[in-house]
Amino acid sequence: MSPVRPAAVVVLAAGEGTRMRSATTPKVLHALAGRSLVGHVVGAARRLDPEQLVVVVGHGRDQVTAHLGELDPDALTVVQEQQNGTGHAVRVAVDALADQGREPSGTVIVVCGDTPLLTTETLGALVETHQQEGNAVTVLSAHVPDPTGYGRIVRIADDARRPGEGGAAVAGIVEHKDATEAQRAITEINSGVYAFDGKLLRAALAGLTTDNSQGEEYLTDTLTVLREAGHRVGAVAAADHREILGINDRVQLAEARRLLNQRIVEGWMRAGVTVVDPATTWIDVDAVLEADAAVLPNTQLHGRTVVQAGAEVGPNCTLRDTRVEEGAHVLNATCEGAVVGPGATVGPYTYLRPGTVLAAKAKAGGFVEMKNAQVGEGSKVPHLSYVGDATIGVGANIGAATIFVNYDGVAKHHTVVGDHVRVGSDSMLVAPVTVGDGAYTAAGSVITEDVPPGAMAVARGRQRNIDGWVVRRRAGSPAAEAAQRSTAQRDAAGGVQDGVQDTAGPTAGQVEASNKEMDQ
Ligand code: UD1
Ligand code: CA
Repeated sequence: MSPVRPAAVVVLAAGEGTRMRSATTPKVLHALAGRSLVGHVVGAARRLDPEQLVVVVGHGRDQVTAHLGELDPDALTVVQEQQNGTGHAVRVAVDALADQGREPSGTVIVVCGDTPLLTTETLGALVETHQQEGNAVTVLSAHVPDPTGYGRIVRIADDARRPGEGGAAVAGIVEHKDATEAQRAITEINSGVYAFDGKLLRAALAGLTTDNSQGEEYLTDTLTVLREAGHRVGAVAAADHREILGINDRVQLAEARRLLNQRIVEGWMRAGVTVVDPATTWIDVDAVLEADAAVLPNTQLHGRTVVQAGAEVGPNCTLRDTRVEEGAHVLNATCEGAVVGPGATVGPYTYLRPGTVLAAKAKAGGFVEMKNAQVGEGSKVPHLSYVGDATIGVGANIGAATIFVNYDGVAKHHTVVGDHVRVGSDSMLVAPVTVGDGAYTAAGSVITEDVPPGAMAVARGRQRNIDGWVVRRRAGSPAAEAAQRSTAQRDAAGGVQDGVQDTAGPTAGQVEASNKEMDQ
């Protein structure tokens, strides 16, 4: 018998999370592997395909509700004004559904919003066992090395079996704070995940009291309530206890992050991705890698980053929402919202910002920053340049230290560089400007006007050499002495005697004459 689709999943996310000690962020919005705590839980729950998905919010409700609106617009949020306990939270949710005429009658799953490692597979197995055994409630338990702080699963019979080996019926759950010494020795704990028979849930919740050490309505007490009403109560242990890790503070958050990352990285390695150093490779849940991609140490792949077959990323890369296509190499780079085309190369020390698209075999080299720039096939920006708001054709070469001057202090403007253009080193291309196909620009030029196809644009001051200046004006300096030695050697070798001039520089006529010479 295959399990019946759950009628509802209720995610509890109203608690303050005091132990996170955050002034700004509700507990369930703290992030790991590219999603919030509650984002992971809602994702796992959504994949069960429940008829309804309800999230109980309270502390930081505006932030949490806005977040859920983006994450899963179909999720219903219900406000629990005061956090009177997990049982109260579920009651608020079920009452809200009932008020809308949507009270679930099939299987209702309850999960906490702070267990990000929980998988859909484990939830599915819980549903299956719950339905097969015909239970009123089935709790997901786990055997843990250190049960401190968790509710303990108390089994009825002291029969020959050890707890959790199956068979010994569940008496109930006792919270750590309410437990006796003997109960605290129990290592089978409550994960905070349950499957309920929806038809029995509301009555069970109505039977809860606040008669406990925390003065709260404990959801855990529904097990006793239902058992005492003559219903079947079960527990199923999770295969891996680490999956139910509940996050209460930032130490546990870091631990969960490490465990989740390990799961993700191992998954990609088994799918054919080379990961040289899993311990320093961080991959978000939504990143996608193809077989024969390689990730080198100290690399982070965030958001919806994609690394295709044969591509190599790292070492020392941070990529967010970036696509690295087949056979491309990205080294020591930070890339956001960029596309690195097939066989293209990036790095080292390169910053690609949103809207950067490198076509096949293009290059963004060392100390290059790009933003909103389309670089054509085989075009190269090898060294020390800023390319902002630009379209570059195919086969172009942008000389070292070229700046695309895109900002006039008020607005951004676009630059177009044609096919097979050669931009000389240390050029400024002042946008809006177009450099036509096949054109050249002279090194050090400030290009403010369009350059026709095939032209050579020169826009810079002329060089003039003031012979003998250092010997006259910096007499006795090491530079003057070096110059004199050089002149003496040249003279001794019979060099021309046209060196030192008497005046402080060439005349205007001389400059004009030499400029004419250069124009030839
Ligand atoms: C709870 C369980 C405990 C279990 C543990 C697993 C109860 C009484 N105890 O303890 O048996 O071992 O989880 O991690 O259920 N919440 C609300 N509204 C409230 C109170 C809590 O929405 O009024 C939410 C919290 O935001 C959180 C979840 O319920 O996501 C669990 O609450 P928390 O206070 O962390 O419960 P624990 O003491 O950890
Ligand atoms: Ca908890």
